[in-house]
Amino acid sequence: MGGNGVLAAILAGDTFKYYSEGEWQVSSSGKSVPIINPTTRMTQFKVQACTQEEVNKMMESAKNAQKSWAKTPLWKRAELLHKAAAILKDHKKPIAECLVKEIAKPAKDAATEVMRSGDLVSYYAEEGVRVLGEGKFLMSDSFPGNERTKYCLTSKIPLGVVLAIPPFNYPVNLAVSKIAPALIAGNSLVLKPPTQGAVSALHMVHCFHLAGFPKGVISGVTGKGSEIGDFLTMHPLVNCISFTGGDTGIAISKKAGMIPLQMELGGKDACIVLEDADLELAASNIVKGGFSYSGQRCTAVKVVLVMESVADALVKKVNEKVGKLTVGPPENDYMRIAWEEPFGPVLPIIRISNVEEGVHHCNASNFGLQGCIFTKDINKAMLISDAMETGTVQINSAPARGPDHFPFQGLKDSGIGSQGVTNSINMMTKIKSTVINLPTPSYAMG
Ligand code: G3P
Repeated sequence: MGGNGVLAAILAGDTFKYYSEGEWQVSSSGKSVPIINPTTRMTQFKVQACTQEEVNKMMESAKNAQKSWAKTPLWKRAELLHKAAAILKDHKKPIAECLVKEIAKPAKDAATEVMRSGDLVSYYAEEGVRVLGEGKFLMSDSFPGNERTKYCLTSKIPLGVVLAIPPFNYPVNLAVSKIAPALIAGNSLVLKPPTQGAVSALHMVHCFHLAGFPKGVISGVTGKGSEIGDFLTMHPLVNCISFTGGDTGIAISKKAGMIPLQMELGGKDACIVLEDADLELAASNIVKGGFSYSGQRCTAVKVVLVMESVADALVKKVNEKVGKLTVGPPENDYMRIAWEEPFGPVLPIIRISNVEEGVHHCNASNFGLQGCIFTKDINKAMLISDAMETGTVQINSAPARGPDHFPFQGLKDSGIGSQGVTNSINMMTKIKSTVINLPTPSYAMG
């Protein structure tokens, strides 16, 4: 299932349609944006170059749809998400094929991305009914000077229209990690996929369409950044932005209005290797963490800080494992590699003479996404973890985002807010209080 028939439904000639007001549409611009296959360097697909007017229509539709979507019972919203998840998994093959062609993701990883995404949508549906089904009840007499006359009931309400902007490296998984919390919480969702990865993402959106989401609850817009980029992120009908990517996120956060932002902007994930580390384990994780998907992961190992005494042994093991891969010689400005995020298969290894030096190097970075420590001494690991200024520290494993329900966040320039199932649902909601005021009881009046 989910092969050519689906692609035909979302294609107009040789260009993929965009999704607005519950329908697949052709842009009035008459223009398209090419998607280059990174392997062949040839145009693989084309998507619509939408206009600002089409964005306006989409936003209006999203705003109107959200009102009734928020009133749709939570269990029904969950049911639809479960349905979309099942359809998505059913479409694993064609979507994975798109991922291979659009972003050169290895076939096995591409299939994993689709399945992982289906699981994540289901998990959101499961967790959403629990997290959103609960509220708080507070009594006034717990605060000094108050009688027991005010009862406060709190619940979580949606924000409105959520704009989701995922990156090219996970155009499906990091799209659903924004779509699912938004929808389960009663928001409507506008997706702006990355150009590389847009067709995989549109195909995923079609799975939500097939699941039967009401029109306007989910939309997908494609186009040129110069035409619709700022227009989307500064749009007055957008009530929340969830973005994953690079420096663009810093620009967005400066331009966006007074709305909640969820940002994941990359990292310079350090791997600290102590003298007592299992070097075989460390080397395997360094190679996997540094070079899988050519290092194009925010959570890739991007610098190794190894104790002088075991540095040679570690480098030997890493070199053996890198095997046929060619890591170019240090560039003229080698030290730039020690600080910047190359997003490629480059891995500087720096010798340190003590733990403090390693922690200092890690913390001197403007990024603070993840880091890892290899040691057999759990006490040391905990102390170092505490000292590292990163959103997550992995002990004896390479940095990684998953499992997808774990909290995922960056400090400093690595982001705003925290992702992960519960955190994303909470981030895409607001607390609403209703206070019941009772007359002061006669016993309290003396
Ligand atoms: O944005 C995070 C992404 O680049 C890495 O995710 O799952 O490969 O750790 P993951």
